[in-house]
Amino acid sequence: MPAIDETRDLTAKEYARIRDLVYAESGINLGDQKMQLVRARLGKFVRNGGFSSYDAYLDTVQADSTGEQLCGLLDAISTNTTHLFREMHHFDLLGKIIGGWVQDPRWRAAHPTLRIWSAASSSGEEPHSIAMVAHDSLRAHSEIELKILATDISGKMLKRAQIAIYDPHRLGTTPPQYRNRYLCKVDHQGTPMMQLSAELRGLITFARFNLMNASFPFRHGFDVVFCRNVMIYFDRQTQEALVNKIAGQLHPGGYLLIGHSESLNRIDHSLEYVEPTVYRRKG
Ligand SMILES: C[S@@+](CC[C@H](N)C(=O)[O-])C[C@H]1O[C@@H](n2cnc3c(N)ncnc32)[C@H](O)[C@@H]1O
Repeated sequence: MPAIDETRDLTAKEYARIRDLVYAESGINLGDQKMQLVRARLGKFVRNGGFSSYDAYLDTVQADSTGEQLCGLLDAISTNTTHLFREMHHFDLLGKIIGGWVQDPRWRAAHPTLRIWSAASSSGEEPHSIAMVAHDSLRAHSEIELKILATDISGKMLKRAQIAIYDPHRLGTTPPQYRNRYLCKVDHQGTPMMQLSAELRGLITFARFNLMNASFPFRHGFDVVFCRNVMIYFDRQTQEALVNKIAGQLHPGGYLLIGHSESLNRIDHSLEYVEPTVYRRKG
């Protein structure tokens, strides 16, 4: 006899509870239309956990003082889609920006370290692409140290990012010069895969960080911040607070890059518009 599913379907009230929790904890604004998505992404937790309802599951999430259950919920809700060299234009631009900076002796004197932040790094493709381009752009300037910070709210994605392993058949977006220089053949659980070189992995610090945090506790500022394809999930107010916190972390002359479907048009900020999706701190 087939197993009987004892779980009650998601009610409008439970959906509202999830929507409010997700908004409060991550800034992700599900709105009123994402019931199907919530059902598809959280249903397995509710069923596999043996809960009789979404409410019962949420009670457990909210009672868990370790925060682990909440991380699992947010991991499941957030969209982590990404790929190497996504929105290639930004990586061409990064190479040009760094190339321009390193030619300027005054910039070099003031910048023993070049610091770049990938602020919603997901499974790592973005910081890995940054590492390849920035390392290549600094080849003639080994005196400049390169440091990349990669953060995301999802611990699961960060773990994947740290391993930096890729299917060789899915490297189509990676320019051959970077593929040849920075990706190495490895045997991963019996399957031939490619891995970002140990040298480049060593340039990246991975950390779990929620962009909703009231303060950004970074010791140093950044020369470039990639905050791409995450603001689309936030409402205007949340975007504005975030952009202003990021602007406060940029060195004068530093750049903020946002996703190609995002815009800062409707929000108040102090950054200079350079071109679509590219902003700069004055100075
Ligand atoms: C679509 S991915 C973007 C990846 C990459 N930046 C890119 O453009 O390809 C969005 C990422 O934002 C992360 N995210 C969502 N809300 C967040 C928050 N409040 N703080 C930090 N990261 C968040 C998700 O976990 C997800 O990995």
